[in-house]
Formats: sequence, C-alpha cells, structure tokens
Amino acid sequence: MCGIIGFVGSEPCVNDIFSGLQKLEYRGYDSSGIAVVNDGTINVIKQKGKLSALEPLLKSLPKSSKVGMGHTRWATHGAPSVKNAHPHGEQRICIVHNGILDNYKELKIDLLEEGKTFISETDSEVIVHLLQNEIEIAHDLMKGILNIIPRLDGAYALGIMEKDHPEEIFIVKQASPLVIGLGEGENFFASDPLALLSHTNRFIFLEDGEIAKITKDEIKIWDFNGAEVEKDVVTFDSSEISMEKSGYRHYMIKEIHDQPSVLRKTINRWLTDDKKSLNFNLLGFSENELSQIKKIHIVACGTAYYAGMLGKYVIEPLVQKCVEVELASEFRYRNPFIDKDTLILSVTQSGETADTLACVKYAKSKGCRTLSICNVAFSSIPRESDFTVYMEAGPEIGVASTKAFTSMVLNFYFLGLGWGRLVGNLDRQTLESHLEEVVQLPNLIEKTLNAESLISEVAGHYFEEHNCLFVGRNFFYPLALEGALKLKEVSYIHAEGYAGGELKHGPIALVDKTIPILAIAPLSKDHSKMISNLEEIYAREGRIIGLGSIEDDKLRSLSKDLLPCPIVENMALQAIICSVPLQIFAYYVAVHRGTDVDQPRNLAKSVTVE
Ligand code: G6P
Repeated sequence: MCGIIGFVGSEPCVNDIFSGLQKLEYRGYDSSGIAVVNDGTINVIKQKGKLSALEPLLKSLPKSSKVGMGHTRWATHGAPSVKNAHPHGEQRICIVHNGILDNYKELKIDLLEEGKTFISETDSEVIVHLLQNEIEIAHDLMKGILNIIPRLDGAYALGIMEKDHPEEIFIVKQASPLVIGLGEGENFFASDPLALLSHTNRFIFLEDGEIAKITKDEIKIWDFNGAEVEKDVVTFDSSEISMEKSGYRHYMIKEIHDQPSVLRKTINRWLTDDKKSLNFNLLGFSENELSQIKKIHIVACGTAYYAGMLGKYVIEPLVQKCVEVELASEFRYRNPFIDKDTLILSVTQSGETADTLACVKYAKSKGCRTLSICNVAFSSIPRESDFTVYMEAGPEIGVASTKAFTSMVLNFYFLGLGWGRLVGNLDRQTLESHLEEVVQLPNLIEKTLNAESLISEVAGHYFEEHNCLFVGRNFFYPLALEGALKLKEVSYIHAEGYAGGELKHGPIALVDKTIPILAIAPLSKDHSKMISNLEEIYAREGRIIGLGSIEDDKLRSLSKDLLPCPIVENMALQAIICSVPLQIFAYYVAVHRGTDVDQPRNLAKSVTVE
C-alpha cells in the first residue's frame, strides 16, 4: 500500500526520490507526489495515476533541493486524485502519511469549527492542521509532534518537513512500516528497505511508538514520551537481493521461473549435508516446547491464507495435533479460544500485513506461542513473533504471489516433518524417504515449466471468458482456491474455486456449455472421485480444462484442453507442482487480455492497513 521515501543529504535528491518511488510501485498505488524544501520554501508536485504521469512535473521542482520526500498513495479516504495525493500542506508544514487515522472525522469536525479549510478528502490532512496549530504555540516541531500523538488513533507512518528547518525531516511510526537508511553525509527513510538498497545496506528499523529526527549527519530517535532511544543498525547483504526482471517481460513470469532455485535453496537450508536428516534448529522450538502445544492456529491473508490451508493438510498428519486455518481479518475479531498451549502460526510474504500482524500481537497478549513463516527479514511480523522460519525466496515484486506461495507450502512441509520427527511421530527411515522425494522437487518444477508455451496457447482459448470455475479435491482444493484467486487478480475474470465433493451442493447449477472449469486432477488416491465429478460436469456440457498427467486418458477424454504436469505420489509435493501450471495459465490469460500484470488495478502487495 502507500509508500514513503525521504532523503536528507548534501546532493540534489529529486531524481533519487523519484527512482525510490519507482521501487515502491510494487506495493500498489493510484497517485503519487514529491515535496522538497529549498531556500525556505516547500515545493510540491502531485499526480493521479502512475509515476509516468508525475515524471513530467519533476522539472518544476528546484533542481538543487537536497531534502525532500515522496509518496505513492493507495486510496482509502477520498478517491485517487491530485488533491488527495500526498504530500499534504506546503506552507509551513508538509507531511506524507501511510496508514489510517480512525478518529479523523472527530478531529476534522473540531478543526473545521476552528475555521480551518481542508483541501483534500483524506484523513491525513488533519495531521497538517494539528501540527500547524501546535507549532504556532510551541514553535518547536518535536514538541508539536509529541503533543498531537495522544490525539491520533489508528495507524501512521509519517514524514514531516518544516520550511523553517530545511535541514531536517521528522518521521513517526505507529503500526505502519518505516525504516531509516544510513548513508555518508546523507540519510534516508522509507516504508521498505528495498527502496533504499541502491543507496545503503545499513538500516535502523523503527518500532511502534518511535519518532526520529533525520539530518544529513545525524539520526536521533525518541519514544512517544520524549525519551531518547538507542537502536541497533542492521546490515543487509544486498548482493543477494535482486529487483531485476532478468530479461523477462514481467516480474510475475520471472518469479514463476525463480521457483526451482528458490525451492532448491529452501531444501538445502533444511536438509543436513548428507541429505538424510533436517536442521531441527530451524523449527525454533525444542521437543519439549512442541510437546506442550495442544493446538495450532494458522493465520494469514490472501494467497498466504491458501498456502496456510494447504499447510493444514500437510502438517496435521505429521504433527498429530489439531490445526485450524483462519483468515487473519476474521480471527482477530471473533474472540477465539486460545491460551498458552496454543501455537499461532502466521504465514506472510511481506511480514507487514496489518491483520496478520494484529493476530500475532493479540495471540501474544493471550500468552500463546507465536511462530511465523515469512519472506522479508526484519519486517514487523517476525519482529513480533517468538520465532520465524524465513522463506528466503528473494524479493517478490509482482503483486500476484507465486514463488512465495510454493515456498510457504514447502516450508510447511519441512516444519511438519521436523516437528513430527522431533516428537517421535516419524521414524528416521520414514523421514529419510520423505527427504529422498523432496530433493527431486526443483527438477520436477523445471519439467513443469517446460510446458509454458503450451499453457500459453491454452490460455489463448480462454482469455475472453467472463467466468471460470476451479475444482480440486483434498490437497488440490486449496489449490483450486488459489488458482481462482490468481486468475481474478491478474486477469479480472471472475473465478471461484470449489472442492470437487461440493459441486453437487450448489456450484453445479452454474455449469453449462459457456463456463470453463479448470479441474486439478493429477493421478492420486482420490483420482477416481475427481473423475466422477468431471463426468458430471461433462454430462452438462461444461468445458473442462484438465490439469494432470498427459498420460491420463480419462482426464484427456473429458477435457477440452490439458495443462500437463509431472506426477508424484507425495501429495504435498504434487500440490506444489500443480501450482505452477495454474500460475502460468493466469499469467498468460492476463497477458492476452493486456492487463497490468505486475500491478493489477486496486491491488497492493503489502496491505498495511485493515
Ligand atoms: C495482498 C497481496 C497478496 C498477498 C496478501 C497477503 O493481498 O496482494 O498477494 O497474498 O496481501 O500478504 P502477505 O504479505 O501477508 O503474504
């Protein structure tokens, strides 16, 4: 969602702010803006739409500006428009804001009664007026910030510039991400370290309830009581982090192709050198602690939630505990029964999803143990969790999650195997035979990717559809949900996923000769049941796109088109393999439709507000 970037330096920074905003684009946005302070004046440019619309306005900013900040806005309060775009305020105080002020209406009413005039419909603009008021009285921005904080309810990452102090920017963090980047004779801040990696690999991560003053030579940090805080500097190995498309047309297809190497890396991390056992330290909990856990709740949003559903199928038989999976946005509000014997297992690519983060905080307040599976080091959810299994899938830039999904599922599998072995549910030989299978996975994914041009051709038969159903049984039911989500995210075609066994309980009413039905039907122990479901669809002239073995005559005879994949007995691995044709299919349908594949309309990669 909204992205913030700021520079305080000794060199002109307008172009750097703009290129920083380009690196934040993937978070999702619908307008953007930049403010710089120069010779006692604040200059602001804003534009609706993509950054390409803002770029022509850059020349109107003073070239020599050395201090400034930029913002990409994902509209919450007020439509995407120039007047609602950030930065707000350009007379004395200017701000950028990521988050939502829950009590902005009450604050706005008070300010309107005082005679203030609002230019935008945003919640953020109230902060400008509150600060202006404070500064007129206290003549000190820091004091002003400390005074208004108790009046702000909600989430806010703020950048604040004052025209009379052009050498400094204040930043404030409460429940929205914010990081400081350290340079030589220059310092930076951003919502996301990725936006700053071309300038520095040294970062300070702010915690909720902290304020920092950034000048070119110094960083000072306080808590909301005004007490100074010492913070650690974290150094990233930026050689491992690539944000390039590596010759691919879109990040999404590049990330689909990253999967063999991502999964290989995960396997190498979990397996001991002799490939016969696991690095149990990656589990984060001792055998004793794991034995005390009575129940596991997986919480997540979006694609991570579907990975969590698959995670339940994967780990429940291995850990022999009851595993529940829940949407983080539901779990946190429904007053769940959880206690110190419950493990809350959050799954998240970004580590910043607001609802998932809130679940972890809630679980901690109830005394639960917390474990996360996450891709982004030092993000908020790992920092809140007792322990984190890092996916190390590398930056995922395409908004539609691909490599993070398969990596989540594989990490679930290892978690289940490791836990099962530690507590004695699995003997050494059984573990070894699982591991023998799992090491084959990257090669099998490579084989699956070989069908890309065929799948692209099949996608060409369906890109003009308005609806599509996805069906699967057992492990392939969560995959049907994820396949449908992928298609709707990138192509805007209405798609729904169903469990094969549920078709007769309603969805079959939708079946006629107009509707394509993508059936995830690899050869497996439930295959004959799935084939029966497909016979019922076929009898009603539904157009089946089969996903399964090229040698499966039954599936082929029922399908108009077939998306081929290799077949293995191990259901967890088969589910990972079957994810790939679904991703490629969604990608090429979107390409045929000409949508903005990497930044689909209205979507954000990192959902930092509720
Ligand atoms: C957004 C993204 C999805 C993602 C979901 C959860 O909706 O567009 O791709 O699956 O957030 O994100 P997380 O970072 O927690 O996995």
